[in-house]
Amino acid sequence: MADMNAFEKNQEVVTIDTSRKMRVGIIGTGWIAEPHVKAYQNQPDVEIVAACDLIPGKAEAFCKKFGLEGVKCDYKDEVEMLADKSLKLDCVSVCTYNRTHASCTIHALEAGVHVLLEKPMCVTIEEAYDIIRAEKKSGKIVSVGFQPRFNKNMQNIKKIVDSGVLGKIYYIQTGGGRRRGIPTPFGTTFIEDATAGLGALGDIGCYALDLVLNAVGYPKPLTATGFRGAMFGKDPNFVTYFGHKEYAEKFGVDDWATGYIRLEGDITLDFRIGWAQNIDYPCDTVILGTKGGLRVPATDCWNGILTNPCILYQEIAGVQVETVIPLEENDNLWDLKIRSFLDAAKNGTPSPVPTSQILYNQAILDGIARSSDLGREIELNVLSYDEI
Ligand SMILES: NC(=O)c1ccc[n+]([C@@H]2O[C@H](COP(=O)([O-])OP(=O)(O)OC[C@H]3O[C@@H](n4cnc5c(N)ncnc54)[C@H](O)[C@@H]3O)[C@@H](O)[C@H]2O)c1
Repeated sequence: MADMNAFEKNQEVVTIDTSRKMRVGIIGTGWIAEPHVKAYQNQPDVEIVAACDLIPGKAEAFCKKFGLEGVKCDYKDEVEMLADKSLKLDCVSVCTYNRTHASCTIHALEAGVHVLLEKPMCVTIEEAYDIIRAEKKSGKIVSVGFQPRFNKNMQNIKKIVDSGVLGKIYYIQTGGGRRRGIPTPFGTTFIEDATAGLGALGDIGCYALDLVLNAVGYPKPLTATGFRGAMFGKDPNFVTYFGHKEYAEKFGVDDWATGYIRLEGDITLDFRIGWAQNIDYPCDTVILGTKGGLRVPATDCWNGILTNPCILYQEIAGVQVETVIPLEENDNLWDLKIRSFLDAAKNGTPSPVPTSQILYNQAILDGIARSSDLGREIELNVLSYDEI
């Protein structure tokens, strides 16, 4: 008889079969590996059995810091780790910088391992197609690491859209960013082209897009007019470089990007994102429909945490009314992100944040980048998940 353990998840109690432990590996032991490991440690049915990093000794030091005992780390990269059949891996978290998201994910899928892949999904649309081909071939799942999906306030935005109260959606404005916040807390992997590939556009732009695209059912993007550039990143005195003047020379990505996207269903999407800007917040998120409108107040670096309530605008009996949507308290989003992935991997249920959706998020990031490089609007001609 299986040893069962109750786990509270988004107010509903789910039962976890603790007799079957999931054997987990960590690929890339930098900054974001920490919340992954802490959330895995909170699960009753997980054994972290391996970790690897390209930097020699980094995985060992990481495991020591987080009290992970008996974890095998003597691999030079993910290929060696995945080839070690003695590990009997069920799952990996891909916590590497953006440029190696696709290769690490594909290698894991080829080894028959489920993948929790950090956001953004990858750098280019071709990489997204390759990930999906490998996912389909392997029969394993990929969940993309958008923890805001588990935020009740973000979920309420989708519920409001799905209720039909907004009518036909025809326009979306989204985006955001930080006043001063080029991310260089532990070095330059976010700002070098060889590691990051995309700057603010991929790093936080993907969240702003997921907020609205998830709410409206991820319609296919058709065309993109985009711009990306470096407005602050090449300034050696930039304030969040804290005197590291060499960062300016290494800066090879965007710190500002905008896009105007046509989506299937006659919806236009107006988007902007910045790691730095001379204003507090560049815009609220706005979803406009024929029967109502929704305002999602801007926050400092939108990442799924709403600090002010959304406002629903309607006309009732000829009167213009506004309804404040109360903010809800959240459980630990990282626990929910990890648990939802484990449940899908263990029970063969659909991925909680599937590649079939995030493909269109990636198509927009890629479209903005390509349109900007070409200096004109482009047709995206993106394949759907079923066509790949
Ligand atoms: N979900 C979130 O809230 C969140 C927050 C921050 C970062 N992220 C994402 O997490 C990813 C990593 O960010 P980070 O801040 O941890 O970066 P980081 O540079 O601190 O760590 C990445 C690590 O991956 C290693 N690595 C790269 N390729 C590898 C490979 N093939 N095999 C083994 N190791 C490899 C690097 O050596 C490095 O140590 C980024 O894509 C970022 O967008 C997500």
